[in-house]
Amino acid sequence: MKTYEIETERLILRNYKESDFNDFWDYVSQSNVGPRTGGWPPYTEKEKARERLLNVDCKNLLQFAVYYKEDKKVIGSVEIMGPKQERYPDIEIGKNTKEIGYLLSENYWSRGIMTEAVRAIVCFAFSVLKLDKIVIGHDVKNIGSGRVQEKVGFRFVKQSDEIHTWLGEESHLIEREMTHEDYLKMKELQNLKATLKIREINI
Ligand SMILES: CC(C)(COP(=O)(O)OP(=O)(O)OC[C@H]1O[C@@H](n2cnc3c(N)ncnc32)[C@H](O)[C@@H]1OP(=O)(O)O)[C@@H](O)C(=O)NCCC(=O)NCCS
Repeated sequence: MKTYEIETERLILRNYKESDFNDFWDYVSQSNVGPRTGGWPPYTEKEKARERLLNVDCKNLLQFAVYYKEDKKVIGSVEIMGPKQERYPDIEIGKNTKEIGYLLSENYWSRGIMTEAVRAIVCFAFSVLKLDKIVIGHDVKNIGSGRVQEKVGFRFVKQSDEIHTWLGEESHLIEREMTHEDYLKMKELQNLKATLKIREINI
């Protein structure tokens, strides 16, 4: 099977390894990470977390561990997945549309790390996977995630009318998108693309 490794200034985005488990456990057990990511409760049992780490559905999900070079550890993840139309009722989802999702250990928030990772994944998704469109969303109260999406250059589409209860109370998703044409017009992303190291790996 073929996979990819993407290197940015501070990060390597790569496949998870079994030896990443202790790093993985550190952030999936944090109370502020899972609930904001889509409403899943923090992990309290190591065996359940290990199952999640090892049983990724590779057909529908391209998952990258976010490896922080300075601290030599995995501190989060970014995923490219098949979007669910019901989650994005106001966006046209074609065959060649994917969704990006992400999470980061709380110990590393607000250092621009996820913006760096998502920018790299966007460049990779449009230039290597040749996507037509990327959709992305966040709970309206998740200001930090919204900032990541704005900084990367995603366009606001709509605050969904659908109600969800990820953070324990009724709320809504902000739906955003970026098309391939949008991407080609973004100077910052085009410049970044030229500096990324993208390696194809056989596993
Ligand atoms: C969302 C998340 C990935 C952001 O990662 P990060 O590396 O901290 O993001 P960045 O540092 O690149 O950017 C965050 C921005 O939001 C801002 N921010 C964060 N919390 C904020 C808040 N409560 N109010 C206002 N701004 C906030 C930061 O200041 C920064 O903006 P700036 O660069 O303009 O100063 C991280 O907080 C996380 O993993 N949260 C839990 C899981 C999650 O929410 N996943 C996304 C689900 S949609």
